[in-house]
Amino acid sequence: MPDTQIVHLNGAFLPIGEAKISVLDRGFIYGDGVYEVIPVYKRAPFRMAHHLRRLQYSLDGIRLANPKDDAAWDELVRALIARQPFDDQAVYLQVTRGVAKRDHAFPKGAAPTVFLMSNPLPLPTPEQVAHGVAAITAEDNRWHRCDLKTTSLVGNVLMRQLAADVGAVETVMFRGGWLTEASASNVLIVKGGKIAAPPKDHQILPGITYDASVEFARSAGMPIDIRPISREEALAADEMWLSSSTKEVIAITTLDGRPFGSGVPGPTFRRMYAAFQSHKPPGSRRV
Ligand SMILES: Cc1ncc(COP(=O)(O)O)c(C=O)c1O
Repeated sequence: MPDTQIVHLNGAFLPIGEAKISVLDRGFIYGDGVYEVIPVYKRAPFRMAHHLRRLQYSLDGIRLANPKDDAAWDELVRALIARQPFDDQAVYLQVTRGVAKRDHAFPKGAAPTVFLMSNPLPLPTPEQVAHGVAAITAEDNRWHRCDLKTTSLVGNVLMRQLAADVGAVETVMFRGGWLTEASASNVLIVKGGKIAAPPKDHQILPGITYDASVEFARSAGMPIDIRPISREEALAADEMWLSSSTKEVIAITTLDGRPFGSGVPGPTFRRMYAAFQSHKPPGSRRV
């Protein structure tokens, strides 16, 4: 993105090249902050209320007061969207505990840092939708509050890099033999036409796209179970999908270097993909 891309920092809209924060910002020093990524189709935020609810949940989880109410966030996100030259966007929104002398305990009186930027929405390519993507598996060694969308992401970064190292798009994780999620996506499986997804506990991010997929499946009459999924069950599934705000739903067709399931996106994935597309605003990019 050019240096002139307009972002928002602490009350001002300015070119990204001019947006500066202190080296003492606790987001920089400790990863002491939370964030959201909101997909935008044709300049309309998708499931904004859900994202703002999860933002509040993450802020509560790190004991940081929300600097804005939902109406103010809504207005700010829309104002940022309006300043971009492209229609389909991914709004990134971050709140940190602000700037203070380095000390682990919460600072008194620091103002939170609020930063937003918006980039073109990097949806999967038509080839990825048609043929699926490659993923690998790894043991989930992250902390035990993966339900909070914090900016402390080095655990996820290391997991994603394992996939990048072998040219795969994601790392599907298991903790003690149970499916959790992937480095930046939720994971759903299908066996015998029945969808299953792990419960939204502290081990996974409560994905907005996960919720949307569950909702769309139920309204389309597709059977779906929310329950713990063992590694054995996951690896023996007919289909495995990733879900996220920037991936929507995408099928995993290669796992750990071998074809997964039938090696092509399965029939249940294709139904879910179609359901997902039908819930986007009319005229949104479809593959
Ligand atoms: C670890 C992790 N899990 C799941 C997701 C999917 O969440 P959402 O559907 O809200 O994008 C993300 C999104 O970035 C993520 O980082």
